[in-house]
Amino acid sequence: MTVDITTNPPIERFRRLRGSEGLRRLVRETALRPDDFVYPLFVTHGQNVREEIPSMPGQYHLSLDRLAGEAEELRELGVPAVLLFGLPAAKDEQGSEAYADGGIVQEAVRTLKAADRGLVVMTDVCLCEYTSYGHCGVVVDGEIDNDSSLDLLSRTAVSHARAGADVIAPSDMMDGRVAAIRSALDDGNFDSTPIMAYSAKYASAFYGPFREAADSAPQFGDRRSYQMDPPNVREALREIETDIAEGADIVMVKPALAYLDVLSRARQSFDLPLAAYNVSGEYSMVHAAARNGWLDGSRVVLEILMSIKRAGADIIITYHAKEAARWLSDDPAEHSA
Ligand code: PBG
Repeated sequence: MTVDITTNPPIERFRRLRGSEGLRRLVRETALRPDDFVYPLFVTHGQNVREEIPSMPGQYHLSLDRLAGEAEELRELGVPAVLLFGLPAAKDEQGSEAYADGGIVQEAVRTLKAADRGLVVMTDVCLCEYTSYGHCGVVVDGEIDNDSSLDLLSRTAVSHARAGADVIAPSDMMDGRVAAIRSALDDGNFDSTPIMAYSAKYASAFYGPFREAADSAPQFGDRRSYQMDPPNVREALREIETDIAEGADIVMVKPALAYLDVLSRARQSFDLPLAAYNVSGEYSMVHAAARNGWLDGSRVVLEILMSIKRAGADIIITYHAKEAARWLSDDPAEHSA
């Protein structure tokens, strides 16, 4: 046999390791597992409520009595955690139900922990769902006032911890809130309760469907004076660094898909667990296209979640958690991109 030495350098044959699913599995660099997921839940007052959210097909408003069933399903699917959002019975200028011990989120925490002690129950700490004007902080003289919001956010965090929340997740984007919440938790003897900070949270149009789901659209203005400006990435690193200095245990980038560069930069710069929020608009977009037959839903969802993992997320908060966990336990070749 003669050796052909005319191709110099020889062709780099990348295809050699792509020839079978077994080989592809062996050289796969990133793994996606149900362990990575946090499933957001919208909890509401009432009895036997399981009402589909029109802008988010497949996601529901659930009353307390429906939560145990949800916990059981998540356990079967291997999804370890939920993130709770509440729809209060009434809203007011001080967002009182956010920090009421009998508030909807506090009740939901107790219900879920009673149903399954092993489920990690995270709570979103914010005022937008609870204030009549729909902003994440308190309004004083027509402005979202930073420092007077910190007290109410801290009270909210402590009331969640008192109800038994495992992780407190402030999403309001007020400056100094991680420090304020950390010290309030410590004072309340909750020094073991971790904080997952929505550190780099952008003023994004991708939250559209959520604002219908959580009835939290601002009644005047927008959130650009407190959420981050989308063009900025260096500022995201400073936000994250500050939250770590203030005591965050987990830091987050939100949204995920249009901000994978931010995630990747955060992964390179920080060693804390990093979460990414695959937000409502990212979910609804894929579902709408899949319903029209324009995209293969399961393949696209797993490809998106994998990209978030590859960019550097340890934790993915996603409305796809249940369906993705189901698809991952099927034959991987069926849904692989
Ligand atoms: C509350 C909050 C929002 C989301 C999570 N927490 C909405 C917002 O900031 O307007 C968005 C989640 C999503 O779109 O899935 N501040």
